[in-house]
Amino acid sequence: MAHHSALTFDQLSERELTAKLEPELLPKHVAVIMDGNGRWAELRGLPRIAGHREGINSVRDMISQCLELGIQALTIYAFSQENWNRPTQEISALMGLLEHYLSTERASLIEQQVRFRAIGRLELLPESAQHWVRTTEQDTAHLDKMVLTVALSYGGRAEIVDAVRGLLADVQSGTIEADQIDEALLQQHLYTHPLPDPDLLIRTSGETRISNFLLWQLAYTELCFTPTLWPDFRRREFLMALLEYQKRERRFGRVLSAVPS
Ligand code: IPE
Ligand code: IPE
Ligand code: MG
Repeated sequence: MAHHSALTFDQLSERELTAKLEPELLPKHVAVIMDGNGRWAELRGLPRIAGHREGINSVRDMISQCLELGIQALTIYAFSQENWNRPTQEISALMGLLEHYLSTERASLIEQQVRFRAIGRLELLPESAQHWVRTTEQDTAHLDKMVLTVALSYGGRAEIVDAVRGLLADVQSGTIEADQIDEALLQQHLYTHPLPDPDLLIRTSGETRISNFLLWQLAYTELCFTPTLWPDFRRREFLMALLEYQKRERRFGRVLSAVPS
């Protein structure tokens, strides 16, 4: 059944797809694993970095679409802890692209009232990239139309380890007692605090794995996997993912519409 609706969506224009959205059923927080840039470039006989560069246009589209739809939190996976194992040349090209993006896009983020935040082991980034990350965070700290969180040098397990370390420091300083530790307290030490957990996760490029992204936060997130490569994931594709999300029944372990026993 889902497949039939996907086929009908394919024939609809962007405007028709938007009209099908139910505003009250939109996700509040969308997370994205932007994958497939390298394959997009290889398919065209281009260097991998050309795919990363094209992927920035998809990021720009998604930000403006979130703003139009009133989605207030977007979290995107731009560089994982494991991505440090890529060839040095690709890593430095990616870092260069990050600096270029932040230096050129900062004004537009401010104009769109988007708050920028970076999460991950940022101290591992080159000093110049750290500079642009800090500057963009500071210059957008007062904005609140939407929060754009970019995961850089990010690992989900590392985030949980850092949260545990934070809790331990609080116990040692006497701020909390060890037996007070619960899920809510641990959550306060995650990089993403105070954002709510993502409602929807999109991964492009056909891979159906999480790749160490937001391990804690994704506990009850709806997952949407699409074969579309990230540079090709544009406005229509996002609308189709949102429509797919709206068809899901989020049960959170409960039995819905059941007669109480
Ligand atoms: C995702 O695209 C972007 C990053 C991981 C930085 P990839 O570079 O992983 O592209 P593929 O998966 O090799 O096609
Ligand atoms: C996940 O993509 C990380 C980002 C999109 C930044 P990868 O391409 O690194 O993931 P794997 O290696 O296919 O799991
Ligand atoms: Mg990949």
